[in-house]
Amino acid sequence: MKDDFGRDIYYLRLSVTDLCNLRCVYCMPEEGVGKRCHSDILSVEEIEEIVRAAVDCGIRKIRVTGGEPLVRKGIIEICRRIAAIPDVQELCITTNGTLLPQYASQLREAGVSRLNISLDTLDGDKYTTITRGGSLKDILVGIDAALEAGFDNIKINTVLMGGVNDAEIPAMVALTRKNINVRFIELMPIGECAGWSKDRFISNSKVLEMAPELSEVGSSGVARLYRLPGADGTVGLISPISSHFCPTCNRIRVTSDGKLKPCLHSSDEVNLRGLHGQALVDTIRNAVRIKPKQHHLDEDSRSGSIRNMNEIGG
Ligand code: GTP
Ligand code: 5AD
Ligand code: SF4
Repeated sequence: MKDDFGRDIYYLRLSVTDLCNLRCVYCMPEEGVGKRCHSDILSVEEIEEIVRAAVDCGIRKIRVTGGEPLVRKGIIEICRRIAAIPDVQELCITTNGTLLPQYASQLREAGVSRLNISLDTLDGDKYTTITRGGSLKDILVGIDAALEAGFDNIKINTVLMGGVNDAEIPAMVALTRKNINVRFIELMPIGECAGWSKDRFISNSKVLEMAPELSEVGSSGVARLYRLPGADGTVGLISPISSHFCPTCNRIRVTSDGKLKPCLHSSDEVNLRGLHGQALVDTIRNAVRIKPKQHHLDEDSRSGSIRNMNEIGG
């Protein structure tokens, strides 16, 4: 499906809950978010109906996000139903990894093709501070569980925060020697971290300064890819601030309460709830047409989105 700027939109990021079992400082309010009433979030049936309509419009890749998608009741059934839709070519999940020991093999059986796992530090104390209470051990066990369940091409997402985890760039890069891909993401001024001091927002160029052995090997989605000599995995740089990737944007988002967001950083939202059949398909097509050409985010401006990151899922 083409938008008005000729971009091919084939990727849907679907948030299935805004709840999370962690409280990452840049994403979630410290006190968490109130549990919504059951009827406020899309049911499994509504999710399936929306995904089917999106696939009718040309969507081929689905990424299930949160909050933390694995805390959503019925997550395995949601994945099973999405994976069974003809023309869904890829079903991926972005997770904090803590519940993978419990769910990895069920997700694999349900038809999930790939996992991206968030991990901002390899230091146990720092992990607990960043996630406000999480345990590094849980996620390391989670990554092992995913590997054991047969997931490959796992990507670790590391949000770079100046003065917090930038000293760990070489250690994170070294993980790619063990057939794990690591992607550094520039912190985006959205929701919780929008008002943070400027020193926290650092450019991904710091990665190349601190790991000069990296050489560029191509690109994948929103990431530019690099590799250490002889390493199995790649290092990806996702740089929404220092180099906008809007001209090649291929995605839309749906929130857990059924709003389609044509752009991560815009306040525009289109309601999908209560729509069925052709009306649902037409609404999705029209929402894609209003997708803005680009966002105007830089280190001096905050996101136009009216939601916190835990409601959008990145
Ligand atoms: P792959 O399918 O493995 O390429 O995954 P992905 O990069 O599309 O998904 P993931 O959930 O791992 O996202 C990685 C990071 O990129 C997250 O921090 C997102 O917030 C950020 N991101 C994803 N999509 C966009 C986007 O459209 N705009 C911006 N600015 N950031 C994005
Ligand atoms: N800036 C950049 N990335 C963020 N994420 C959450 N909030 C932000 C932010 N403000 C990342 C998480 C996860 C993905 C879904 O989004 O670390 O990897
Ligand atoms: Fe939870 Fe992910 Fe947000 Fe951390 S970044 S609080 S793990 S949703």
